[in-house]
Amino acid sequence: MSNFKVRKAVIPAAGLGTRFLPATKAIPKEMIPVLDVPMIQHIVEEAVRSGVEDVILVTARHKEAIENHFDFNFELEETLDQKNKKDLAEISRSIGRLCNVISVRQKNPLGLGHAVLCAAPIVGNEPFAVLLGDDLIDAEVPCTQQLIDIYSQEGASVVGMMEVPLNEVSKYGIVAGTAVRPRLLEVSHLVEKPSPDSAPSCYAIPGRYVLSPRIFECLRRTQPGKNGEIQLTDGLQILAQCERLLAYQFEGTRYDTGDRLGLIDATLAFALKRPELATGVRELLRKHLRGG
Ligand code: G1P
Repeated sequence: MSNFKVRKAVIPAAGLGTRFLPATKAIPKEMIPVLDVPMIQHIVEEAVRSGVEDVILVTARHKEAIENHFDFNFELEETLDQKNKKDLAEISRSIGRLCNVISVRQKNPLGLGHAVLCAAPIVGNEPFAVLLGDDLIDAEVPCTQQLIDIYSQEGASVVGMMEVPLNEVSKYGIVAGTAVRPRLLEVSHLVEKPSPDSAPSCYAIPGRYVLSPRIFECLRRTQPGKNGEIQLTDGLQILAQCERLLAYQFEGTRYDTGDRLGLIDATLAFALKRPELATGVRELLRKHLRGG
């Protein structure tokens, strides 16, 4: 593992988004905004702030809006220029400049592990990050950057980790292992969405990974698991048997934007951080809590 530079990130975006119907009937769930920025833009920005140059989107049918979002929109940008709305034109252009976006189709919905495997021909033989779009992590040092730092220091694949209450373990991939130092585990055991009585720990993986390309060979050997799908967590269990796998308890606040309450939580938190919105949002909250 001599090449420590992580230049590529895989972002799976092939899901149907049924939890957000009817909003997702005609638009990809990744385009639902947290405040005024689509969820997927928050994720891509985290990758870019962590040094990623190429974002590999694993998509499916009807996801073209995501590709368009990360392209230039000549008509819109020219029109805004002509109307002297340079700031808005720049907002639009800056998204087009963020990074290279490369799309690959997951033609069959066979699971998250299979989605990551679809990116193998584009990732090639180098380490890469995986960021899941339903997990928004607000952190001073981007979560992916924190994991890349561990990857560089330790020369081993690493997953993000956070502690969750026992009654929530069945929502996540769960890791267990031995402590290397505070916040860092050497992983021996991973289980996808265990029941509370069979969970090996309360350490969950909230959708952030920095992996050696050896994961692809492991995913090719992974049999269908939870829900009959090829799970990334099961592929990681095979990886942990071939080479060192770490889990790092990152610093930052994680929001589950794949859930309606989580989306409201993230929207409020982000709005309260915006100087032009904070006072107005506080007033609205007070009004609604008074019931009028
Ligand atoms: C996926 C992964 C799971 C991970 C979770 C994080 O599950 O399979 O291991 O902990 O994302 O959000 P999903 O929530 O897509 O069912």
